[in-house]
Amino acid sequence: MKLSILGLGYVGAVSLACLGRDGHEVVGVDIDPAKLDLIRAGKTPVVEEGMVELMEQVVASGRVRVTPDVAVAIVDTEVSFICVGTPSAPNGSQDQAALLQVARELGRALRRKHGPHVLVFRSTLVPGTVEDVLRPILERESGKQEGVDFHVCFQPEFLREGSSIRDYNQPPFTVVGASHDAPVEVLRRLFGHLPCEFHRTSIRAAEMVKYCCNNFHALKITFANEVGRLCEGLGVDPFEVMELVCQDRQLNISRAYLKPGFAFGGSCLPKDLRATVYLAKMRDVELPMLGGVLASNQRHVEHAISKVLASGKRKIGMIGLSFKTGTDDLRESPLVALAEHLIGKGLALSIYDPEVHLSRLLGANRRFIEQHVPHIGQLMRAEPSQVIAESELLVVGLSDARTFELLRQHVRPDQTVIDLVNIPQRETLRGHYVGLCW
Ligand SMILES: NC(=O)c1ccc[n+]([C@@H]2O[C@H](COP(=O)([O-])OP(=O)(O)OC[C@H]3O[C@@H](n4cnc5c(N)ncnc54)[C@H](O)[C@@H]3O)[C@@H](O)[C@H]2O)c1
Repeated sequence: MKLSILGLGYVGAVSLACLGRDGHEVVGVDIDPAKLDLIRAGKTPVVEEGMVELMEQVVASGRVRVTPDVAVAIVDTEVSFICVGTPSAPNGSQDQAALLQVARELGRALRRKHGPHVLVFRSTLVPGTVEDVLRPILERESGKQEGVDFHVCFQPEFLREGSSIRDYNQPPFTVVGASHDAPVEVLRRLFGHLPCEFHRTSIRAAEMVKYCCNNFHALKITFANEVGRLCEGLGVDPFEVMELVCQDRQLNISRAYLKPGFAFGGSCLPKDLRATVYLAKMRDVELPMLGGVLASNQRHVEHAISKVLASGKRKIGMIGLSFKTGTDDLRESPLVALAEHLIGKGLALSIYDPEVHLSRLLGANRRFIEQHVPHIGQLMRAEPSQVIAESELLVVGLSDARTFELLRQHVRPDQTVIDLVNIPQRETLRGHYVGLCW
């Protein structure tokens, strides 16, 4: 295919070389004349393993050329990859100056082009940029309509500096955010052969996926480093510890706990986090990330409280009270915290949890409930259908097939349901469903 690449930094230069290697005709564009001269001479503008040989080879093949002129790149090619830098502005926001400049130039070039063109944004972009910022500029400057005369899409780049050619050849996955089939098919032709899954999603989700991946990586590194500092303070070997932590592929290195839902609670996670942070304090070790986890969790409970209060409904039903489905452990249950707040706000509550029988609660579990919601007995109902019948708004914190079936049978169209557990196929249920994150 005939391709162009705008921005010949790490991402753009490696893509130029790899796409040229794969037999495509590639035009590279950059505003930096020094980079263009280097590539013209068969040299690489970035230091990356394998790039010296690859650049020499693809430039010699005649398939790769460079220009400072965006219009040339657009007129001569079918697909353009936009890889300009999107650094931080001083206030932390994304500096999109280069991107906006390129978008204006691309739009003006499209005005003069006959025939279709696909623009693939590969720079990391804050969600909404392609649809809300770039598409309007491109349409205004070109006088053409996206989706008809040309297409935009977003394909996050996952290569890492230092191993970028290897990562190009073997990415974790290919993600394409698009609103039309045409650009997806073009990218499937270009990248469908790579040994990874090819996913299509919305443009905004694709933009967000890139941020999530990078933030998750930053979180992992920081977690390992906080463990390292604490281990140092305790005289424990951090490598041995983290090696074993990574051996658990059931709960640790897995999909477990990675689905947005309600806050965590129970008799282990909160108290163990507190003890860890305290231990660190005693050793003069600072753990800002782990130290912030409980505050973030508390924000999540407050988010649920504000969703309930914002509804304006006064009769609240809660399905679920213990800290997770299938247990009667009420200690530090975020649902108990929710109930406590709602009672404090004077709302009428009725509660059902199949596992919670107050008369059978013992020990610490009983003490916890006596301290936090002493009159809860009057609010508990024997049947979930009673709770549903009595309430204007339902909070669903139980995630099991029986609960979902009961919702199917008993929820009325006028009821609001706050879904804390991602009820499957909720669009087929009656009632107005509100999630914590949607
Ligand atoms: N570096 C990485 O490992 C990596 C990985 C994944 C994603 N990304 C993202 O990809 C994007 C590019 O990153 P990078 O590291 O390659 O950036 P970079 O700073 O190395 O390169 C950006 C290039 O764009 C050029 N440029 C600026 N304005 C231009 C214009 N108007 N027209 C043409 N070229 C222009 C610059 O001269 C420069 O050569 C960023 O959004 C980054 O977040 C980077």
